[in-house]
Amino acid sequence: MAGVNDPIFRAICKRMGADLTYTEMVSVKGLEYGNKKSADMLMIAEEEKPVAVQLFGKDPKSLAEQAAAIESQYSEDIALIDINMGCPVRKIAGKGEGAALMKDQKLAQTILSNVVKSVTLPVTVKFRKGFELDDDIALDFAKMAEQCGVAAVAVHGRTAKQFYHGESDRETAARVKQAVSIPVIASGDVFSQKDIDYYLDNCGVDAVMVARGARGNPWIFAGIEPTIEQRVNIAIEHTKGLARLLPNRLPSMRKHIAWYFKGMPHAADVRRSVNDCHSTEDYIALLNKVLTW
Ligand SMILES: Cc1cc2nc3c(=O)[nH]c(=O)nc-3n(C[C@H](O)[C@H](O)[C@H](O)COP(=O)(O)O)c2cc1C
Repeated sequence: MAGVNDPIFRAICKRMGADLTYTEMVSVKGLEYGNKKSADMLMIAEEEKPVAVQLFGKDPKSLAEQAAAIESQYSEDIALIDINMGCPVRKIAGKGEGAALMKDQKLAQTILSNVVKSVTLPVTVKFRKGFELDDDIALDFAKMAEQCGVAAVAVHGRTAKQFYHGESDRETAARVKQAVSIPVIASGDVFSQKDIDYYLDNCGVDAVMVARGARGNPWIFAGIEPTIEQRVNIAIEHTKGLARLLPNRLPSMRKHIAWYFKGMPHAADVRRSVNDCHSTEDYIALLNKVLTW
């Protein structure tokens, strides 16, 4: 998840039981222009290796070149290259990238076959049920991707126009699974072990992608309900890890800490106090104080 999946958080999720973690989606244009923010997104923590790297863009040549460059630079630190064709936000889809590629299957096809040819790593693609509100084109899209040689597909059962509203249609993943013979990863409304089991048992998919359900709750991968002490300890580990590896992302601990204590008796106090935190020491002092509340 963009803005959420930093390497420290991903390493925590992996330790809790996630089989595979993904980088935030990285702009190939950003990489080409030498943008520091994009390069930082390729930072990989030791404990999470091998990670899935997700790229987005719309130029087949750029995507293929960047995928090849990443493969040669990171080699065994990477499990696969995933191409984002599901992001609905205007900044991305409005430029023909992300979910907008579902509106141009020919271009999507060129991108996927070019990337598949450019690397030896497995290539996967993530997309949605469709673009327009009532689209239902995931099956066609998945078959097209399979023909391009992708190793697996991940599908979110909402259309781009639905954004994150309403319920994700779980049957989309089940139908895609019937339509292709490569592994299918299901995404959409995964907030508990029950949701994970539903996808695995009733939709027959090969894997389940946890997104919003992991924010502040990496324990979803361990199937446990954390104590306050565990929440504090993980929040401290996350804060110290970011301070060490990516200090410019320390301010994101404000939202992470709010998520770690969401639904807890002192959640509102934590949310208020975390806004006054500016340094690693401020965050740690607050987290230690939470233990005394
Ligand atoms: C803040 C945020 C950032 C996201 N960033 C990405 C991303 O970078 N790449 C991606 O494939 N999906 C991204 N997603 C979509 C999720 O991977 C997932 O498909 C979607 O949230 C539906 O699953 P959920 O209902 O279980 O959250 C993002 C979602 C959110 C809420």
